[in-house]
Amino acid sequence: MNKKIETISFPDLAKARKRDFSSLPLLRKADLKIPEELKKWAEGKTFTVFTSGCQANVRDSEIIIAYLLMLKMIRTEDSLKADLVLFNTCAIRENAEKKIYGELGALKQSALENKDKIIGVCGCMAQEEKPMKYIRDNFPYANLVFGTHNIDSLFSLLNECIVSKKRIFDVCSTQGEVVENLPSYRFDKNKAYVNIMYGCDNFCTYCIVPYTRGRQRSRQIEEIVKEVECLRDKGYKEVTLLGQNVNAYGYDLKDENVTFAKLLEAVAKTDIPRIRFMTSHPAYFKEDVFKVMSEHENIMPQLHLPLQSGSDSILKKMNRHYDSKQYMDLVHMLRRYIPDVYLTTDIIVGFPNETDEDFEDTLKLCEEVKFDNAFTFIFSPREGTPAYLMEDKTDPKVKSERFDRLLKVIDKSATESAEKEIGKIEEVLFDSVSKKNDEMISGYTRHDRLVHVKGTKDLIGQIRKVKIIESHTYSLIGELI
Ligand code: 5AD
Ligand code: SF4
Repeated sequence: MNKKIETISFPDLAKARKRDFSSLPLLRKADLKIPEELKKWAEGKTFTVFTSGCQANVRDSEIIIAYLLMLKMIRTEDSLKADLVLFNTCAIRENAEKKIYGELGALKQSALENKDKIIGVCGCMAQEEKPMKYIRDNFPYANLVFGTHNIDSLFSLLNECIVSKKRIFDVCSTQGEVVENLPSYRFDKNKAYVNIMYGCDNFCTYCIVPYTRGRQRSRQIEEIVKEVECLRDKGYKEVTLLGQNVNAYGYDLKDENVTFAKLLEAVAKTDIPRIRFMTSHPAYFKEDVFKVMSEHENIMPQLHLPLQSGSDSILKKMNRHYDSKQYMDLVHMLRRYIPDVYLTTDIIVGFPNETDEDFEDTLKLCEEVKFDNAFTFIFSPREGTPAYLMEDKTDPKVKSERFDRLLKVIDKSATESAEKEIGKIEEVLFDSVSKKNDEMISGYTRHDRLVHVKGTKDLIGQIRKVKIIESHTYSLIGELI
């Protein structure tokens, strides 16, 4: 087994926190040259890529897979037999990290049996100091580690690993660049993620993302539009524009003509049938975006607008730069422009020293807004973030009781919202066979509601009119008309 480490470039959270706004983010084209040794090693070998976490990670995995397919490697689901296993990891909460240790442990025997096996870890967890040291010391057969900033070095990293037969740990805590010309594989043939920006400069006090993904860097509008046009020409029906804070799109380019509203409008003009975007930040949201949303049929009437907390004092401690009134004002404005909008949110319960009163404020706000759906989380302390150092006297039992109470409020508004759909005619883009019943085909309405109808696989990829006949809290049943 390869024990020695050839390249040691470990993450450094203090360095990752630094921001230099004096220059524009660096733009670069990916070098797609394949080293000779790697070409010989790779052809016909198998690989598995596991993906955890958010859409940004899913998109990164698509790029990683495209690189591996360029090497003529073959994708497999069998990680025990695969010649290369890569874990594209998430760091947002502790449980995602613990799972990876379990997965790495499960590969021990297969690593002993196949001395040439490459087991790699990349993604956000690779950008954290402690987990990397833990992997270095406890999983000697994990022989390739790289971060979120050097995915486009995959060929040279793999080559180094193969040639040196040593462990390669190469993680840089730079502010990041914008790399264009990346190869791309797509998991889906009808719906695609399109990165519009990378990184985040917000430093919400609970969040590790600004450290793991670096400074905010926006792609050029022309590059994004070109990618969407290319997807449209290939027959894609839907794009989701991705960024940690899409409303801040363009700020780093220091050009007032580059705004999210302008980008959204340019993407709408490509005439791709469906456009969604995520994630929005209430403090950066401007009316011009609502206006563009309401003016274009192909921008879907849906918004994911993370609230995080309904308490003004907690929002301040979270460094969110808005209060509950500003959030409500935004919701009212949104509903003026798009009355039937499907509104979802993220909420963290149990932020350090959240009081009963703080929590009641969150419940009250949720009851008032009546979200159509929400992703709810219990606060998970992330080392390196300010909230990790905050003293927290709240009993974990109290946190989980609050979590259950919040879920009940969300379930109620989601159920009521779904019930209102019965009898309506909705356009559904079908994308898969239902996981629970293979006679049903699943898809999403313009509002992003999950719908199942009786049908055959040929529906997949089509947008069809459906009459809603039954509602559940988080899904609907319909029939084709
Ligand atoms: N603990 C719990 N939830 C978190 N999120 C981000 N960081 C943490 C954390 N440390 C949640 C936020 C964010 C979503 C993607 O994950 O609600 O919007
Ligand atoms: Fe994290 Fe806040 Fe940036 Fe979202 S906006 S990625 S929650 S720091």
